[in-house]
Amino acid sequence: MGHRTLRATEMSQQGTRLMSAGIPVVIDSDPGVDDALALALALVSPELSVRAVTTVAGNVDLATGTANAGYLLRVLAAGRGIRLAQGCARPLARELVTAEEVHGSDGLAGITGHERWRRRSSDSTNVPSDTVDAIIDEVANSPEPLTVIALGPLTNVAAALRRDPAAMRRAAAIVVMGGSLHAGGNVTPQAEFNFYVDPEAADAVMASGLPVVVTPLDVTHQLAVSDATVESRLQSRSEPRAAFLGELIQRARAEEFTGRGGKLLLHDPAAVATLLWPELFTMQAHALAVDGGDGDQRGAMRSTGDEGGTERTRAEVAVDVEANEVVSRIVERLVAGGA
Ligand code: RIB
Ligand code: CA
Repeated sequence: MGHRTLRATEMSQQGTRLMSAGIPVVIDSDPGVDDALALALALVSPELSVRAVTTVAGNVDLATGTANAGYLLRVLAAGRGIRLAQGCARPLARELVTAEEVHGSDGLAGITGHERWRRRSSDSTNVPSDTVDAIIDEVANSPEPLTVIALGPLTNVAAALRRDPAAMRRAAAIVVMGGSLHAGGNVTPQAEFNFYVDPEAADAVMASGLPVVVTPLDVTHQLAVSDATVESRLQSRSEPRAAFLGELIQRARAEEFTGRGGKLLLHDPAAVATLLWPELFTMQAHALAVDGGDGDQRGAMRSTGDEGGTERTRAEVAVDVEANEVVSRIVERLVAGGA
């Protein structure tokens, strides 16, 4: 099976480019606690220019996720005028499966009911329902090739590829949090949640021929906030943004959500981190497929290699990570708040 491990120099060159240019990104998400942390990280990172946030049904239904996205932009990016659009309310070809048991009924570990951080009805009013066109528009009209960061089920991205493949070929990359090569699943023994919810969409993105970078459970299971240090540091800051993130992390680590002794996995921030610090990730090239159907292989991601006999472009898959350094840098960025 042909694997190519990117050389450190190649990754650091990409890192240099990021520092000089500051790449434009659209963040497609299903907020979700870790989506919120990923958005916060992207918004305070000068290497990235967030052009739009789009929502997809996943962790919670589309209306709740969209209300959360508007709420997060109000708390984390007030006045920046970042475009918001809502997208697909259900997967391409099957019923929606959500994850309130992980993220809470409000999708944000209950923080939206907190008297200080109450979510407002205005957070979800007048949000255009044109996410698929918005993704195509941002990709097609960006002066600099734009990267789509996909943090939820890939329904919107697959729909954009289907609607206007020529425009989407202008994308610099599709950076995906999803899948699992050898780490097992988090919904079934084989499937990771984003790929389980919409396996047809995930497979379509892997077969698209676009440059795809996948951050699977193989590395995100190594990236966690597992003690009270981070929330304490954030909550001791005067900025409302930091206090909000501290409260969110504290709630998300509470037993009723993690059920694993307070360990909050940084799945979605890890995908953003592959753009910020690529040199901290070991990447391998794999031609990937995602199984559909309704059997026990639903949503399973596999490397087809040569035996697959398909002409799938090889995705860059993160297979290992300098975990302590990545977690430390994510935390420092969130605490510093882009200062
Ligand atoms: O499996 C983890 C992924 O599914 C994360 O993106 C989380 O937010 C959920 O969408
Ligand atoms: Ca997500």
